[in-house]
Amino acid sequence: MSPEDFEFAAQFVKERSGLVLTRDKVYLLENRLMPVVREMRLKSVAELIAGIRSGAPALQTTVIDAMMAKDTGFFRDWKPFVHFRTVVLPNIRVSRGMKARFRVLSAGVSTGQEAYSVAMTIRDVSSSFPGWQVEVVGIDISANAIATAAKGIYSQFDVQRGLPIRTLLQYFTKQEDVWVLNDGVRNMVKFQPWNLLSDLFPLGRFDAIFCRNVLVYLDLKTKLEVLQKLARLLVDDGVLYLGLNETVTGVSSSFRAIDPNLGIYAAHRADRPASLSLGAKVDL
Ligand SMILES: C[S@@+](CC[C@H](N)C(=O)[O-])C[C@H]1O[C@@H](n2cnc3c(N)ncnc32)[C@H](O)[C@@H]1O
Repeated sequence: MSPEDFEFAAQFVKERSGLVLTRDKVYLLENRLMPVVREMRLKSVAELIAGIRSGAPALQTTVIDAMMAKDTGFFRDWKPFVHFRTVVLPNIRVSRGMKARFRVLSAGVSTGQEAYSVAMTIRDVSSSFPGWQVEVVGIDISANAIATAAKGIYSQFDVQRGLPIRTLLQYFTKQEDVWVLNDGVRNMVKFQPWNLLSDLFPLGRFDAIFCRNVLVYLDLKTKLEVLQKLARLLVDDGVLYLGLNETVTGVSSSFRAIDPNLGIYAAHRADRPASLSLGAKVDL
């Protein structure tokens, strides 16, 4: 790939998605674009990049989709979901009792495992939330990932990554060689293609936001912009879950650390009370 093509493609990808490709990532760009080249029956990555330059919108969307790292798994890293279940949900029950509703966002949800892990966690304690309106929203820049997520159908390999056997048997049905998520959990989650660089306000406000293993690909300025937007989506006592290797420290002052080792942060508003939903552990 010529240096000019790389510079152009890297700039294009950064503007559209926030993903930063430093010069040593030529191989990554080529590896991710080769399947698109084959699928579109083009001759080379150079021809594909010429297509992007000419401004073909469908091609541009396909390229952004192809460039995204979508690795994920059910209950990834496990402990943040234990925190959500044992600390956040009980406190939400106490603090939102009058409204009897809450919402959770999974931003950068990839193929859905994160949002469904949240939904199954809530479902496990649903007897503590009788009659509550609960909504989990999953968004991702990749329309393909979102389409896969909405189906709620996973391979044996997918369910082996993080799903305890009891949970698998409780919430999934085996159909031939795939596992199909039961409607009860599937219907708790709404998926929408959405770019975190765009306006997030139409999504409404959330009591908890999972944005795990997404910011790690962004540069500092873009990270700050996304974090500021997420802070505005969170209710005053809302909680933010980042990936274990991600932090807000040194990036944004809109959050305060709850358990930085687990990537758990609370919305921080100087003029508002401390986070209720992150109070003491309460049994459900
Ligand atoms: C590595 S996956 C993480 C999936 C899941 N959150 C987890 O931790 O398992 C990162 C996801 O973020 C999405 N993503 C990257 N940039 C995005 C953006 N600007 N807007 C929305 N989603 C984005 C990618 O498409 C990908 O599906």
